Amino acid sequence: MSAQAADGRASGRTVVVTGGASGIGRAIAEAFRQNGDRVAVLDRADAPDVIRVDVADEESVRRAFSAVREQFGTVDVLVNSAGLLTEAPVEEMDLALWNETISVDLTGVFLCSREVLRPMRAQGWGRIINVASQLGIKGGVGLGHYSAAKAGVIGFTKALALEVAADNVLANAIAPGPIETPLVDGISEEWKKAKRAELPLGRFGTPAEVAPAAVLLASDPGGNLFVGQTLGPNSGDVMP
Ligand SMILES: NC(=O)c1ccc[n+]([C@@H]2O[C@H](COP(=O)([O-])OP(=O)(O)OC[C@H]3O[C@@H](n4cnc5c(N)ncnc54)[C@H](O)[C@@H]3O)[C@@H](O)[C@H]2O)c1
Repeated sequence: MSAQAADGRASGRTVVVTGGASGIGRAIAEAFRQNGDRVAVLDRADAPDVIRVDVADEESVRRAFSAVREQFGTVDVLVNSAGLLTEAPVEEMDLALWNETISVDLTGVFLCSREVLRPMRAQGWGRIINVASQLGIKGGVGLGHYSAAKAGVIGFTKALALEVAADNVLANAIAPGPIETPLVDGISEEWKKAKRAELPLGRFGTPAEVAPAAVLLASDPGGNLFVGQTLGPNSGDVMP
């Protein structure tokens, strides 16, 4: 049962963070813990206190959310942060790489969101926060699959928001710019240097600078009027 603070559901809630074992998801999980919420971390990686899941696999997602319901009860806030990034120019991209990215980065968001909708609508309160990417808005060379998946997340978020807003279930997206996490470790220093130079802030962000956007979207009353929007903590790269 969720705690009802005087000004709304502000803390003491059950929050699920997919991809919460690393990077942006880990910082978001930590920020919700500090806010006084109970946090369930779902991830493919084996880490302490993680409920294992492959977000691209329907059965795995069912099992993981069933474990969450047993241990934590109804999910009040879902943050979909699990994702992967690979690079290939479109003319060299094989279908397996395309499908892997779409399955994890887009289908995973759909599968996990579907798990929480009925109970959120039944209790008349819920927040779904999808971590997209600014590349879903502006595209990126060698990232046709990733850009398509993230544009899909932004479109899915808007459609979902329209479907469930009347039951006070609010879906929104966060589209970060380049953030220092293991996801971008593999990218060459040369590319990173050039990228930094074109950012209005002149630097990449950190996961701790993204996490408060998720806390804001989940806050009550602070997040109450955001419906299907895309927030852009991105060092000024695009202005969504
Ligand atoms: N780092 C950036 O510059 C950046 C920018 C924009 C958007 N993003 C997005 O932010 C999200 C988090 O990325 P990050 O930078 O923190 O990367 P990260 O690699 O640090 O974290 C991603 C997490 O997702 C998990 N994961 C991957 N595939 C999974 C699967 N199939 N099932 C379950 N868990 C899975 C990984 O194990 C990992 O813990 C991703 O959706 C990413 O696309 C990142």
